[in-house]
Amino acid sequence: MTATLHTDAPAASPPGDPAPAGAAGRAPLAPVRLRGFGGALPARRITNDDLAAVLDTSDEWIAGRTGIRARHHAEAETTASLATGAARRALDDAGVVAGDVDLLVVATSTPDTPCPATAARVAAELGITGGAFDLNGACTGFVHALVTAAAHLTVTGARTALVVGADRFRSLVDPTDRSTAVLFGDGAGAVVVTAAAAGPGAPGILAVHLAGDPGGTEVLEVPAGRPWLAMDGPELFRRAVRALVDSGRRVLDDAGVEPGEVDLYLPHQANARIVAAAADRLGIPADRVVYDMAERANTSAASIPLALADAVAAGRLRPGGHLLLSAIGAGLGWGSLHLRWDR
Ligand code: ACO
Repeated sequence: MTATLHTDAPAASPPGDPAPAGAAGRAPLAPVRLRGFGGALPARRITNDDLAAVLDTSDEWIAGRTGIRARHHAEAETTASLATGAARRALDDAGVVAGDVDLLVVATSTPDTPCPATAARVAAELGITGGAFDLNGACTGFVHALVTAAAHLTVTGARTALVVGADRFRSLVDPTDRSTAVLFGDGAGAVVVTAAAAGPGAPGILAVHLAGDPGGTEVLEVPAGRPWLAMDGPELFRRAVRALVDSGRRVLDDAGVEPGEVDLYLPHQANARIVAAAADRLGIPADRVVYDMAERANTSAASIPLALADAVAAGRLRPGGHLLLSAIGAGLGWGSLHLRWDR
């Protein structure tokens, strides 16, 4: 089953103000700016060699198969404390005070407690009085959350949203199972999103595609009544590449952007080989692709905002540049969004 939220027609230009041809002049579906960025990682860093001391694995196998060299494991840190740390840094970076946040969305599949939402705990820590809720889209959760927040700003006239991806995904993984234990890390990332003026050439989301395959639940799941994640790695690898390529192509087509015009391609950071295969098939130049898994591993909903914070700090995006975000995760569910950049 596929659900799409994309437009086939370019948005209309205001009368008397003809839009320039091509993506550069297209009006965004959701005129927003990504303004502030922050991340939080647990203190404890675990290298591949640390894992090889307790599991039948090696740095060579893990790094060669995945691009991962280390990850952070939560001990005292909770999902809410990681989310709060990332959110605080993003607010500081944006110069936005907590009282101005109209909406807080936390993407997580590992809340500390079922009730209240992680977002409520973050809001309580930071003094946010806007709407606050969690969203569980597994590794695709940050894309879902960003689309939700941008749509809210566009439809309601609210000005400021805080979007967080936070997971202690290691809590779902059997530490004695080498096939999954080496792949995941814990962490949180956050982005402040503000409404922008609408119109041709404005910053914001140009195209969105969300989809799912209900026949894929058993490829990656915590089976009912069992404590740990079960995964068919090779099958997931194949489906992940297919889904990222299909979804990426759809939003590029809808945005009217050629692969060579993408300034930054930031897919979910599960495995460097998945990222490379998807980028290659999409035709996106290698120097525009983000690889951020080496020191963090797969942090589930946190992987995109953590990598985005680093990419922005490194100056990898210019005003007016094109950013393609894509993710796939348990469900299976996946999605992409294409954004014209401006802080
Ligand atoms: N260390 C050493 N050997 C291992 C390890 C390990 N940590 N894990 C598995 N192996 C062994 C297997 O037992 C197998 O041995 P065998 O041939 O004797 O049976 C051998 O290595 C090869 O296993 P494969 O599964 O064929 O290896 P593959 O090249 O497919 O790589 C991997 C495995 C890395 C899991 C890959 O399939 C993958 O990345 N899949 C996607 C998984 C993923 O990203 N999951 C994250 C969640 S979903 C998401 O975020 C998109």
